[in-house]
Amino acid sequence: MEEQIAKESHRLSSIEAEIAQVENSIKNIKEGNFGDESAELSSLLTENSKLKFRLEILNKAIANERKQMSSSSNSPTEVISIIKHLYDIFYNTTKAIFPQFEDPICVISSQTNKSDYQCNSAMPLSSKLKQLNVQMSSLDIAKKLVENLPYSPLIERTEITGPGFISIFLTKDYAKTFISLILNEGVKPPPMKKLRVVVDFSSPNIAKQMHVGHLRSTIIGDSISRLLEFLGHDVLRINHLGDWGTQFGMLIAHLEDIFPNYVNESPPIADLQAFYKESKKRFDEDEEFKKRAYDRVVKLQSGEKNSTKAWQLICDVSRREFQHIYDLLDVKIVERGESFYQSRMESLVKELDEQGLLEEDEGRKIMWGEKTEGEIPLTIVKSGGGFTYDTSDMATIKQRIEEEKADWIIYVTDAGQATHFKSIFACAKRAGILDPSKIRIDHLGFGVVLGEDGKKFKTRSGDTVKLSDLLEEGTRRSLEKLKEKERDKILNEQEIIDATNNVAYGCIKYADLSKSSRNDYVFSFDRMLDDRGNTAVYLLYAYVRICSIARNLGEEFNKQMPKLKKETPIVLDHEKEWKLAKVLIQFPDIIEKILRELNIHYLCDFLYHIATTFTEFYDSCYCIQKNKQGEVVKIDVSRVLLCEATAAIMAQCFDILGIKTLKKV
Ligand code: ARG
Repeated sequence: MEEQIAKESHRLSSIEAEIAQVENSIKNIKEGNFGDESAELSSLLTENSKLKFRLEILNKAIANERKQMSSSSNSPTEVISIIKHLYDIFYNTTKAIFPQFEDPICVISSQTNKSDYQCNSAMPLSSKLKQLNVQMSSLDIAKKLVENLPYSPLIERTEITGPGFISIFLTKDYAKTFISLILNEGVKPPPMKKLRVVVDFSSPNIAKQMHVGHLRSTIIGDSISRLLEFLGHDVLRINHLGDWGTQFGMLIAHLEDIFPNYVNESPPIADLQAFYKESKKRFDEDEEFKKRAYDRVVKLQSGEKNSTKAWQLICDVSRREFQHIYDLLDVKIVERGESFYQSRMESLVKELDEQGLLEEDEGRKIMWGEKTEGEIPLTIVKSGGGFTYDTSDMATIKQRIEEEKADWIIYVTDAGQATHFKSIFACAKRAGILDPSKIRIDHLGFGVVLGEDGKKFKTRSGDTVKLSDLLEEGTRRSLEKLKEKERDKILNEQEIIDATNNVAYGCIKYADLSKSSRNDYVFSFDRMLDDRGNTAVYLLYAYVRICSIARNLGEEFNKQMPKLKKETPIVLDHEKEWKLAKVLIQFPDIIEKILRELNIHYLCDFLYHIATTFTEFYDSCYCIQKNKQGEVVKIDVSRVLLCEATAAIMAQCFDILGIKTLKKV
């Protein structure tokens, strides 16, 4: 129907143009510019009245269709991204007015304090037209855009300001529908095409400590995966463990010496890090040992039984440690380490060689991507014949595209690996493995974690911080805080344990996710456990309070809730009600933005924005009135429902962030 209205509007403007032309001729004749040609005048006058009649009919038809459309769109069944919707209609209008542009500029910005949304295309369009020798002021372009804009159930009105900014004001009806939808059907994602997405994250290395960098990758990767899963995508979460390579030779050789019975009995390696250090020392000092270590790598990579067994035992020790962290943080991930790609690397290298893509370089086989300045070639085969991190990542792309049928691949690692992934993507393109027009591929590189002194995050003695120690300290501090607030007097034992953990892990995750992941971030327990400002503690408490508004109305009232949600019209008359609603309806916009930029901190900003706007609303709009005795005398159901919708959206955000909420505080 929208299309039909657009067509009719188009006809309408051409009739209007015809009328203007006819009227102009009439005026000319009347003013005697062309002599007294009364025959022509009368025929023009007839023409004019005919046109006006057609105009009237068309206008009526459009009004009718708009009415129908608005009544049907008052109950849309899907939440939509407002920015996307506005973009689409402004884009199509621009294209219809300026057919000379194949893909016209269209700029829509989100809410400002002056307007709800804004279209800022007129200025760039004007300069683009100038380049084509068409003079049209940005103000005229803005007017033209507004005149030709098709009907939208979201737009209340538009207003042109300055040199041609178009302020867009939203209808309350749309917000009311959005809120009803959330209340009755839950928080649903905006509709989109379902994709198969591989997210490669966490990915620590066997026998080495999982450090804060891996913690960041784990937290960010899990949250991105949760978001994609919420959107209905088919997500494969992959733990690309560093479980293959030369260091295993020395680990195996060392194990053979220390636990000769390892084939029959699990070796008691308590501290794999220390074990790694010992074997490294021997490797550096003892030629004999070094030789044996090299031999064990070859054996391992060719699948020899005992070496494989030793390797598995070593991996198991690490795996248990990693799993402990994943359990605490409630992160699900499938292990698929570098070793998985051994046979695939062999055939890949062959293929690349056959395609003539590999070059000899001092005994190594290297591959260039784009050969641009500053590019480093990949080392596909080492001079000794072994494979590298580069080889395995070429294999990951191929495997994920060809076997996993991925539409989208995301690698979450520290930003220091940006060059590596740039080369990998370029080489994969060159080898015909990756077609970027069909597959989206991203390296989500994040900044380093810094200590409060602004230097790399280390323990006082300068060692890397053990993650399990870090998480333990988080829970210790979180419990301390809860006791400080005397929560232990209100909560039972289990509730205290849950609150301690949820606050601790929630804070650690939130502190990480709420900063742009591209930047470095300072790890500070004091800051993250603060209950003021943009922190998880503040938000978790705010959330519990919002939930308790309806809950405190008692069982009787809450039993009625489903019926009330269905039947109560939402009122947005108060300025603060409307303000809160306008924040809530941005949820799909925020999701679209995160998808585009792959930066989850927008969701944290949004959550904080909801909480602060809610406070404004709650401070000035009573939801429940009580008398002096504390008895409820009046309930504003629409407002209580607004609280419920707020809580529902917040809960969904927490879920995407991987943060567990609290039942009470
Ligand atoms: N193990 C690597 C590290 O610790 C991260 C691996 C990331 N994934 C990948 N496919 N390269 O830095």
